[in-house]
Amino acid sequence: MRITTLSIAGLVVAAALISSTPMRLSSFDPQVNELLGRMTLDEKIGQMTQADKEFVKDPTDVETLFLGSILNGGNSDPDDGNSLEAWTNMYDGFQKHALKTRLRIPLLYGVDSVHGHSNVLGAVIFPHNIGLGCTRNAALVNRIMQIAAEETRATGINWAFAPCVTVPQDPRWGRTYEGYSEDPGIVRDFAGPAVLGLQSDSLANPLGVLACAKHYVGDGGTAFGSARKGKGLDQGDTRVDEATLRRVHLQGYYAAVRAGVGSIMPSYSSWNGVKMSGNKYLLTDVLKGELGFEGFLISDYNAIDQIKPDDYKASIEISINAGMDMGMIPGRYKEYIRDLKALVSDGQVPMSRIDDAVRRILRVKFAMGLMDANRSVMADRRLHKNFGSPEHRAVAREAVRESLVLLKNGKKTLPLAKTARRIHVAGKNADDLGNQCGGWTITWQGKSGAVTTGGTTILAALKSSVSKTTKVTFSADGSGAAGADIAVVIVGEKPYAEGVGDRADLSLAPEDAAALKNAKSAGVPVALIIVSGRPLVLGEAMEQADAVVAAWLPGTEGQGVADVLLGDYKPTGKLSFSWPQAMGKALFPVGYGLSY
Ligand code: BGC
Ligand code: BGC
Repeated sequence: MRITTLSIAGLVVAAALISSTPMRLSSFDPQVNELLGRMTLDEKIGQMTQADKEFVKDPTDVETLFLGSILNGGNSDPDDGNSLEAWTNMYDGFQKHALKTRLRIPLLYGVDSVHGHSNVLGAVIFPHNIGLGCTRNAALVNRIMQIAAEETRATGINWAFAPCVTVPQDPRWGRTYEGYSEDPGIVRDFAGPAVLGLQSDSLANPLGVLACAKHYVGDGGTAFGSARKGKGLDQGDTRVDEATLRRVHLQGYYAAVRAGVGSIMPSYSSWNGVKMSGNKYLLTDVLKGELGFEGFLISDYNAIDQIKPDDYKASIEISINAGMDMGMIPGRYKEYIRDLKALVSDGQVPMSRIDDAVRRILRVKFAMGLMDANRSVMADRRLHKNFGSPEHRAVAREAVRESLVLLKNGKKTLPLAKTARRIHVAGKNADDLGNQCGGWTITWQGKSGAVTTGGTTILAALKSSVSKTTKVTFSADGSGAAGADIAVVIVGEKPYAEGVGDRADLSLAPEDAAALKNAKSAGVPVALIIVSGRPLVLGEAMEQADAVVAAWLPGTEGQGVADVLLGDYKPTGKLSFSWPQAMGKALFPVGYGLSY
């Protein structure tokens, strides 16, 4: 494991941003304690509960159960579609119920804005974190997160489950693309600017949202074969000693806490056999004690249930006593509330722990200005006009350009000549917006095809960027390249998320290898573009292709790929993950990347 030293530019950005670090959350304790003193146990437990809209059949549950929070999970949509309008109405509708409660405490409303406000049609979709890591540009990541926050706020939603500061150690993991890098130094470098981008200079800024650093800690270190389901890595067991856990996996949290992150999500995974959601030492002693985290912990989706799969009540007891402050309880929230109340009445969860949890949640609500009687908590619909705007897309396009890594460029195959007679484009990822965006796009798993509105496929971008006399032809299977000046074969992965993406074998798919072979057999130079959530084992494709570019999961702005392929911008991206020759054997190290 190589720890990169921060680039000077990265240091300057981080220092400039962090010097404006917001005030300590505990400075709100006078107001918080006054309110806490007036709350009933039911009201307190309600604040500690987050339900998923998908399972809230009756929105007045917000009033009767005093719910403190709602989320939309990856597959959870408004009742009347995925439009900006529908999302905004949904948010306002729930918030109105919260304002009817005795204490009028507004909801924190959470969503996975992990690469833009990616559940909503027409949002700008940024490259997934793996691509951003290759930019080494912390200032750009800060700007991206500001835009993600602003688009999220356009729907009223005030909490993003981001940034993911995982440090994936094995690219066979289906969440590799959610990490900036396998190198803890790069993750640490980005975590602060990412948090400050989302939360802005102050949590009270109405254009910012509450950030959530995840998944604490060691989510990216699980052993292959230890997955909860199947044979892979997801939600598995991280079998390392404490020094390694700290050196590799804790780095992003130091930076996130320093930047004032208001919430942190404990991981589904275990550390040496102990579930993180129940690990008192790591949640309370290390994170809240040693690191001085003053915000609150939100459990992962149904994660509490996994502590003791046969005994929900005992699972709740263990988790809350370990330091969990709010439960992400998508469906069984009534049971959770009843059980937690019984645990308190029976003395199994001390009242002091409940008060500490609610105090942490309320600190954040006060800091965000949610308790300010002079401020509306309804969505600010004036923000709709910038949703998915050209200005926002221009920043995403810049991020795409900077994320591309040129791995090989034999015979100066790239850049493509804009005045070529004919460019033949091939491969399943050339003209597929959904494949470009990857998982966590409109749905949890993402999907192939025209997944959202707005945006440009790589093929469309190439077509619109060449000279008038240049013909761009296309075939998915690589046929028809004969006679072209060059073939550009764009292949890789199809969307997936979490454990569904765990794979034992990272070889190029057979149809991709075939597309490359077909193009190559036409006797023309071939550039291979890999659109994927992780480095792939290219095998002989590495030899067959004259040039190779890693494009990661660029998102909606395929134009950024065309900008670099056509030489309008030079490649500057550097690998943030080592690129394997075969599993366990590196071909290119972290930091590698050519230019022209
Ligand atoms: C994921 C989290 C996500 C949450 C809410 C979980 O399955 O692990 O990253 O924030 O769901 O969608
Ligand atoms: C939800 C996601 C969640 C996942 C966890 C999905 O059904 O939509 O938000 O991360 O389940 O398993």
